[in-house]
Amino acid sequence: MNLPYAEPYKIKMVESIKKSTVEQRKKWIKEADYNLFNLSSDKVFIDLLTDSGTGAMSDNQWAAMMSGDESYAGSASFLKLKDVVKKITGFSHFLPTHQGRAAENVLFSAIVNEGDFIPGNSHFDTTKGHIEFRKATAVDCTIDEAFDTAAEHPFKGNVDLEKLKKALKENPKEKIPFVILTITCNSSGGQPVSMQNVKEVSELCKSYGIPLYFDSARFAENAYFIKKREKGYEDITIKEIAKELFSYGDGMTMSAKKDGLVNMGGFIALNDEEVYKKATVFNIMYEGFITYGGMNGRDMAALAVGLDEATEFDYLESRIEQVSYLGEKLIELEIPVQHPIGGHAIFIDANKFVPTIPRNEYRAQALAIELYILGGIRGVEIGTVLADRDPFTRKNRYPELELVRLAIPRRTYSQNHMDYIVAVLKNIHDTRDQAKTGYRIIDEAPIMRHFTVKFEKI
Ligand code: F0G
Repeated sequence: MNLPYAEPYKIKMVESIKKSTVEQRKKWIKEADYNLFNLSSDKVFIDLLTDSGTGAMSDNQWAAMMSGDESYAGSASFLKLKDVVKKITGFSHFLPTHQGRAAENVLFSAIVNEGDFIPGNSHFDTTKGHIEFRKATAVDCTIDEAFDTAAEHPFKGNVDLEKLKKALKENPKEKIPFVILTITCNSSGGQPVSMQNVKEVSELCKSYGIPLYFDSARFAENAYFIKKREKGYEDITIKEIAKELFSYGDGMTMSAKKDGLVNMGGFIALNDEEVYKKATVFNIMYEGFITYGGMNGRDMAALAVGLDEATEFDYLESRIEQVSYLGEKLIELEIPVQHPIGGHAIFIDANKFVPTIPRNEYRAQALAIELYILGGIRGVEIGTVLADRDPFTRKNRYPELELVRLAIPRRTYSQNHMDYIVAVLKNIHDTRDQAKTGYRIIDEAPIMRHFTVKFEKI
């Protein structure tokens, strides 16, 4: 018997969210300089800005919080978390940090130098930011299919081995501190990397004597896709898949706000003792002592439980099938979205949705604003605004994709919310030909501008 998916939990506590009118939202978004990050959350009905730190913790996680050990040094919660991380990843050394970018900051402070090259698959913006901040270069080696939203490919996060080979061949070994694989690949649409690809990248890295690190924010979702899509993994548990995946690398950075199922937290896990030693110095300087690194004891306790829950099949099935439910409904309406549907979000292709808005008027941002005005839904632009300016020429970088990301928080919204989103998007889609103009930037930060940029309507 084939039954539909259903959440493997029931609801014990609810949080109210507020409805508002189109007129109110027009006023609010103007006051927010047309930057969705500037809206206070009470002005948002369904918040899909991010799946990062916005999920619901379980009763077992809340129970674990009560037993958190807040000792400065040698906290029992740290030891418990270290043990869980070792069990899930296999990496021997562990450093907690307050979130994912802090893990990047600490690790990269230890091993990235000016003039370095760091190949990877569409580095996430904080990763790229931390690389470029150190005057190093992120080299994107993602397969071309990732940039064609209509192309069907089960593992659009994959690395193009020829591109990687070229990057490894063309640059001196001492200028490439590591290769980074983002699993799943957020920037290209929450798309997974196959085990086969991880193995091949790992072998290539080994042949050049270069370490391989994972940006593991959504590693459990990546493992779920491997189980569902890759031959030979159908009968293997998520935990076993994750362990195998990590076995091909040398270390990882983690934003625990995603597949750690907590609201705040992160860590570094790795095998190399020397790198670990160097990183501890920066961890102490930037984050806190090595047995808490910016996290409360209770948060480490909740994360230990969260990592275990996030690597269970039933949880992952309901999580990823909910995202897929929304995506498939949009596909039925011929709304252009990244295919196949990724793990944590729907990525709407604004180049196809609103080609009538000029590219230099930030068409994906314009679409995100319309979604807010019509439905109170907050998504985020993943396009020219996010891509920032070239650090050398200061010109706008136009990425291949102009996307609006609707990130679905974990264990938070219901199927009715998904149907509501579909209805709002259908309305915008039906009248899309009328959209002719977008927005102009009136103020921006020199790096990672998308958080604080101000726009005016053209
Ligand atoms: N790596 C990836 C792949 C991410 O998606 C993020 C964060 C980070 C690193 C940084 O982690 O936020 O804990 O410092 N992504 C969030 C998002 C912000 O909305 O996708 P962080």
